[in-house]
Amino acid sequence: MILTVTPNAAVDTTYTVPGFALDRVNRPTEQSVVAGGKGINVARVYRELGGNATATGFIAGHNGQFILSGLRAERIPHDFVETGGESRICIAILDPETQTQTELNEWGPAVTRQDADRLKEKVASHLEGCRLLVLSGSMPPGCPESLYAELIEEARERSVPAILDSSGEALRLGLRTRPFMVKPNCHELGGILGNPIRSVEAAAEAARWVIGKGVEIVAVSMGKEGVLVSDTENIWYARPPEVPFVSAVGSGDAMAAGFAFGLLQGWPMERTIRLATCCGAANVAVPGAGACKRPQIEALLEKVEIHYFC
Ligand SMILES: Nc1ncnc2c1ncn2[C@@H]1O[C@H](COP(=O)(O)OP(=O)(O)OP(=O)(O)O)[C@@H](O)[C@H]1O
Ligand SMILES: [Mg+2]
Repeated sequence: MILTVTPNAAVDTTYTVPGFALDRVNRPTEQSVVAGGKGINVARVYRELGGNATATGFIAGHNGQFILSGLRAERIPHDFVETGGESRICIAILDPETQTQTELNEWGPAVTRQDADRLKEKVASHLEGCRLLVLSGSMPPGCPESLYAELIEEARERSVPAILDSSGEALRLGLRTRPFMVKPNCHELGGILGNPIRSVEAAAEAARWVIGKGVEIVAVSMGKEGVLVSDTENIWYARPPEVPFVSAVGSGDAMAAGFAFGLLQGWPMERTIRLATCCGAANVAVPGAGACKRPQIEALLEKVEIHYFC
C-alpha cells in the first residue's frame, strides 16, 4: 500500500466551453465534478495501474463531505483529518477551440498547527505496512510549510521512502530532509533555484543540484516536452508521444503515480520512466485530473522516446 497526502483537497469542477469568452455568458457543453487535489489524483491513477493506495490530508465543511462521498463512490480508500472552514473549489475551463485551460483555484481552508499535528498522527498511524509516502501539492493557508519535511522525517524513522511533489517553501524545506524522490515541474524547481529552467540541459543541471542534496531520484517534468530524470548515477530524458489535448491538469500527478508504481515493482529505471511518461500523456487526452485509464496508458508505452542523457 502507498499513502498519498493531500493537504489542500478540492472539489474539482471541469467545464468544457468551446469559444470561452470573457465578459460574456458562457455555457458548458460538458461538466464534471469530482474529488480532487494532487494526492487524490495520484491515488486514483495508482489504483488504475493496479496498486493499492490510501488517501489522506485535510478536508473541511460541506465541500469536504462531497470529497469524501466522491472517494467512496470511486472506491479510493481514505482517512482524512477534518478541519474548520470549507475545502476549496477548483474550477478548470477547457476550450477545445483554442486548446486553452483557464483555472480558478480557491486557496483552501485555514489550517492550524494543531491540525497539522493531527495529520502527522494520522499519517504515522498508516505508516505500518505502507511502502511509499507520496506528498503532493500546496499547503492550505496557515499550515506550516515544514509539514512535508516533518512527514518525510517521520516516514524515514519507519523506513518508509517518500516522493515529494510540491513547490516554494514546502519543496525547499522538504529537500533539506533528503526525500527518496522529488517530482517538481520545471517552473517549480526553477522557482526555488531562482533560475528559470528553459531547456533539457538546464533541467539536467538543476537535477544534478537536487541529487547533490542527497535525494536519490529526481524527475523534472516539462509538460509536452517530457521529463528529465536523474538518479545518483544516470540521467535520462523522455519525450511523450503527441496526444490529442483535452486538459493537462493532473498530468504531473499521473506521472508521480507511474513512478511510484514502477519503482515499487522494482522495474529498471527506463521501464519506470516509460510508464510514468505515458501516465502523464494519457491524462492529457481526457478531461478530469487523473482520469486516464490503463488501456490508454498502455497503448502509448511503445511510443515514448527515451534518451540516455549521460
Ligand atoms: N501536452 C502533453 N502531451 C503529452 N504529454 C504531456 C503533455 N503535458 C504533460 N505531459 C506528460 O505529463 C508529464 C507531467 O506533466 P507536467 O510537467 O505538465 O506536470 P505538472 O506541471 O506537475 O502537472 P500537475 O501539477 O497539474 O499535475 C510530462 O512530463 C509529460 O510526460
Ligand atoms: Mg505538478
